[in-house]
Amino acid sequence: MVAGSAGGRTVNVAQADLDDPVALAAGDPSGMLRAVLDLGAHCREGYAAGSAFRGLSAEGVTAVAVCGMGGSGISGDIVRALYRERLGIPVTVAKGPVLPMFCGRDTLVVVSSYSGNTAETLACFDEALARGCRLVAVGSGGSLAERAQENGVPVVAVPPGFQPRTAIGYLVFGTLGALEAAGVIPPLGGEVESAAAELDALAGEIGPDRPVPENEAKQLALAIGDRFPVVWGADGLGAVAAIRWKTELNENAKVPAFAAALPELDHNEVVGWSAGTGERFVLVTLRHDGEHPDVAARFPISVEVAESSGMLHREVRARGTTPPVALMSLVMLGSATSVYLAALRGVDPTPIDAIHRIKSALADGAEGP
Ligand code: PA5
Repeated sequence: MVAGSAGGRTVNVAQADLDDPVALAAGDPSGMLRAVLDLGAHCREGYAAGSAFRGLSAEGVTAVAVCGMGGSGISGDIVRALYRERLGIPVTVAKGPVLPMFCGRDTLVVVSSYSGNTAETLACFDEALARGCRLVAVGSGGSLAERAQENGVPVVAVPPGFQPRTAIGYLVFGTLGALEAAGVIPPLGGEVESAAAELDALAGEIGPDRPVPENEAKQLALAIGDRFPVVWGADGLGAVAAIRWKTELNENAKVPAFAAALPELDHNEVVGWSAGTGERFVLVTLRHDGEHPDVAARFPISVEVAESSGMLHREVRARGTTPPVALMSLVMLGSATSVYLAALRGVDPTPIDAIHRIKSALADGAEGP
């Protein structure tokens, strides 16, 4: 359900008719919305690929490090958030070319790159190999798959043909399946199927055929309109979901967006929301049943501060009660909202020209004059 005390739509967006499936499809020629709504199937297939994985043992493993950037790297954030209260060893996420110093022979390093060609991630792979870490690669091919094959490193293969960000179900559940097969995490059992079934049901509720009055994702896109989204979640699952919303809004809707976590934001960000500063922003709070009660108690007063700055506010509640269902339902809601916002703004959700421009400029520079 979408809730929020500040009502009203915002102004000046392109106002595509979100209930016109032909117009929606025309504005999304590569099928981003379909890929987003297929998340349940992706989770099932990713888990099947990961749990069929052989060739690695957890014996003596003292830490897990997931290395990856962007749409691949967030799979590490999700694994960390899901397991920080369920695993006796630390899970670290490395988002850059530097493999943390502690990573050595007893560290299981998961190198995740959908394309297999991301420079920072490949640098971590090479370093982990040199240090004798226990390695597993996750991706759809590219240089990562080649290097893995050359060095006898096992690979969790993800199907090609997606944008990295839409492969999140494969990347997260492929990694979880591999960690389970290696004995690092306890068996997920029915959790995967119940998450996937919940996501299938959610896809029906927020799909293109559901009209605005019954469609939470369309309502959220309309509420954001031409304001800038600020997304807050509770430390842990909510915080990761907020980051994912931010990046989906950036890449699909092509808007600046911001994410922060409670309770930390109560110690700094709230001061910035002073009279008038929120007038061009919409706050979306992501809530779930597993929040720490002390953190949950902070939301009403924190939202009150934000609203007093002129911000609109909408609250989104996760589906389900288990952590994987809650987190992945927030992920799907955010992605669908970002695609509907792209339609309202008249932009194709798929291209990410700025990312490609930077990658190729740096690759050209690396080759030298
Ligand atoms: O969304 C995207 O396409 C990016 O954030 C990529 O995921 C990021 O650039 C890393 O690429 P890859 O996931 O192929 O390693």
